[in-house]
Amino acid sequence: ATFDLVIRQARAATASDVFETDIGIRGGRIVQLGQGLAQGQAEIDARGRTVTPGGVDAHCHLDQPMEAPARMADDFRTGTRSAAAGGTTTVIPFAAQAKGESLRAAVVDYHARSEGRAVIDYAFHLIVSDPTPEVLATELPALIGEGYTSFKVYMTYDDLKLDDGQILDVLDVARTHGALAMLHAENADCIEWLTRRLEAAGRTAPRFHAHARPMLVEREATHRAIALSQLVDVPILIVHVSGKEAVEQIRWARAHGLPVFAETCPQYLFLTAEDLGIDDSYHGAKCICSPPPRGKENQQVIWDGLADGLFTVFSSDHAPFKFDAPEGKKPGGAEVPFRHIPNGIPGLETRLPLLYSEGVLGGRITLQKFVELTATNPAKAYGLHPRKGTIAIGSDADLVIWDEHEHVVRNAALHHAVDYTPYEGMVLQAWPALTLSRGEVVWDGRQVVGREGRGRFLPCGQPTLLPKR
Ligand code: URP
Ligand code: ZN
Ligand code: ZN
Ligand code: ZN
Repeated sequence: ATFDLVIRQARAATASDVFETDIGIRGGRIVQLGQGLAQGQAEIDARGRTVTPGGVDAHCHLDQPMEAPARMADDFRTGTRSAAAGGTTTVIPFAAQAKGESLRAAVVDYHARSEGRAVIDYAFHLIVSDPTPEVLATELPALIGEGYTSFKVYMTYDDLKLDDGQILDVLDVARTHGALAMLHAENADCIEWLTRRLEAAGRTAPRFHAHARPMLVEREATHRAIALSQLVDVPILIVHVSGKEAVEQIRWARAHGLPVFAETCPQYLFLTAEDLGIDDSYHGAKCICSPPPRGKENQQVIWDGLADGLFTVFSSDHAPFKFDAPEGKKPGGAEVPFRHIPNGIPGLETRLPLLYSEGVLGGRITLQKFVELTATNPAKAYGLHPRKGTIAIGSDADLVIWDEHEHVVRNAALHHAVDYTPYEGMVLQAWPALTLSRGEVVWDGRQVVGREGRGRFLPCGQPTLLPKR
């Protein structure tokens, strides 16, 4: 037969269109679109169902080495199984350089962690934490050329943060070599100063994490990141934008014609600072992430930014730590001051269903905008488009068939290795009925059926959101 698989009468969505079509698949790729395609070796009836490109989760942390005793709950096996069950077909986690280590060593280590484990395709961002002359002149340019075309830099966290001069240095490499820099924007000194004051006053419960990282510290660093990128004349992408004041800075940059891209995440739409605790309960540790979820009024600001184009990408920032575990939110088995609680919340599997249900079916964003934010733009931003992130002839047959039904989020039904979800009990209106990766079913609506190790490493091309160099 001409096709290995034909998906019949899909209501297919791209970032620009929604159209009824059959999807003809051969050799893992989409080879024909249109009505009345010839018989395939296999057939899937999608009549009445929406079909979107598989999600590209461009910000997630899997098996990233941590300072002891912390250890991430998800490796490439559990993390990618969880992603597939939630409709994501490409993940881009981080190969993090440790201070004193070479970037190359981080990449080699990360390939060893991922090789033979993933059920869906993956690429890597780099994290540059030690921009030595060797890294700047040789290693980073070489790695960009080999398909690691994006890297994250931190303005906070002692083990990762760069000072402004170092950030200028790495931005200059991004400019020369056509890479995209992702910035974590929070003012480290302000956070340290506030944390000490809170500790001196005995305010160490999880909820005070949000007090130590108010929106002001994000706003200031966001503005500084914009200024640094303007000084070097290079585009940047600001990750995990949490609320109004940071959004205002990005709007200001855009109004001045600056190429500043931005990402936000489900936690800023669905959680608030109150989820870190309204009293000193340790359960608030489950929702400790940075930047923290904000006051309720910020959720609408984030929705507005998704709808009106302020945000370019919507990622999970999946940073998986168990709650009730010595390697998780209770270091060494104890309830500890918030400073010592590993930062991050799980969200790989729930990212797409949350946005599809509350955004698309809730009437807040169009289906095309959903596709743009969750698949097309992340693929473009990180040099994977048009292979990933769209429904087009020649693209990988990475697809999600949606089933619209009432679906209650239960951690017991998720596939990550974390012992909780912040969205427990939330009633959604849809969940993927089927996830296809390169034409193979990896999630059948009940089980992850993708084989461990079938996922391939994807070297990234030049980010196509950037001007050609
Ligand atoms: O709290 C978070 N977001 N942890 C993950 C690391 C990061 O900064 O993205
Ligand atoms: Zn970050
Ligand atoms: Zn992150
Ligand atoms: Zn369901």
